[in-house]
Amino acid sequence: MPKAKAKAAMEITELLHQDHLKVSELFFQFSKAEDDSEKEALVQEILTELHVHAKVEEEVVYPVVEEEAEEGEELVGEANVEHKMVKYLMAELSQISGGDKELDAKVTVLCELVKHHVGEEEKEMFKKLRESGADLEELATQAQERKEELMAEPLPTMTATLEIEGEEEEEEDAKVKALPNKKAPAKGKRRSA
Ligand SMILES: [Fe+2]
Ligand SMILES: [Fe+2]
Repeated sequence: MPKAKAKAAMEITELLHQDHLKVSELFFQFSKAEDDSEKEALVQEILTELHVHAKVEEEVVYPVVEEEAEEGEELVGEANVEHKMVKYLMAELSQISGGDKELDAKVTVLCELVKHHVGEEEKEMFKKLRESGADLEELATQAQERKEELMAEPLPTMTATLEIEGEEEEEEDAKVKALPNKKAPAKGKRRSA
């Protein structure tokens, strides 16, 4: 009898949850790390995990949520914006060293962003995905395969950009406005009446 395609023993929500736990543990280790090389190694690991996880979600999971889950479009729209903010900080972190004075602050903010995003996924998105009737084990199989492929590839170069499709002109304006506004404010204390 031909055997059905081997399925992951877990559902997609469990697989993603395991990833979330792993990254949370790495952030915790970073908070305890003391020397620069240890911090650098942890940042590399965090970036790799987040890169692969986000890609698997965007390629394998979010399209199904969008198609099949109730309020899927809104959920995925918000999740994609959060991914974008996370990737911005990841790109910044990919270029700084363990001794950089901004490292801790950037990792802390990244951790907060990820924590918020993971909370939304686990509370809202996973619930809606379970209710949608999608084949969660099949999704886990696909996600696991894609994850293994991505893990075998080197981490791509990341560029920090906040450009949003179709909004380039406004972005440019914002940059131009932000630059020359260095007219020194009056030295005196600002008083509000
Ligand atoms: Fe996500
Ligand atoms: Fe996630």
